[in-house]
Amino acid sequence: MRKGHLSTYISKHTVAIFLFGLGLIVLLNSCYSSKKEKKPGSETEIQTVSKSLPKAPEAALPPYMADGRKVYRQVCLTCHQANGKGVSGLNPPLTQTDNVLGDKNRLLEIIIKGSEANLKDNTSEYANVMQGYGMLGDKEIANVASYIRNSFGNKAEPITVEEVTSFRSVNKK
Ligand code: HEC
Repeated sequence: MRKGHLSTYISKHTVAIFLFGLGLIVLLNSCYSSKKEKKPGSETEIQTVSKSLPKAPEAALPPYMADGRKVYRQVCLTCHQANGKGVSGLNPPLTQTDNVLGDKNRLLEIIIKGSEANLKDNTSEYANVMQGYGMLGDKEIANVASYIRNSFGNKAEPITVEEVTSFRSVNKK
């Protein structure tokens, strides 16, 4: 009888230990699998990174337009005005005139040597005198000349730095 008691004692505990161990395995396993769970949204986040394309650059103006405008604003604007229309009776407009749109050397001569010819157009005579701007560099002159030939509705071939340099060497100015 004693032996029988002992064996039931052991077998009772074996079952208890077995069940305890089983429970432990289930518990540990559930903890482990919950750590591996994917965070919701982690995959979609990667997909929604937008491949935004860089904006198309604005239609680039030739550099002489920006540089020439700078010179124009600093030197010429006070007389010929922002719109190139000049001041009636004083300073002529820079539009619809051969001096701007025609022969390049004629335009360079006016800018470099000035003009006191008392220019007339259909409506006015211009009382002011324009001094020469030979103190400007070849590049500044080329840029401002090209700028006025292509602004205020004007359209004419730009003048290059080389053309200014050669005009000056021929005219010693
Ligand atoms: C102080 C005022 C003044 C400034 C500054 C001035 N001009 Fe003039 N510009 C005149 C006047 C006045 C005339 C007309 C001169 C004449 O009657 O002979 C003239 C004439 C001209 C003409 C000939 C226009 C035509 O009707 O055929 C051109 C081109 C010109 N200027 C360009 C320029 C440029 C480029 C600049 C700047 C680098 C400039 N001017 C700065 C007063 C000025």
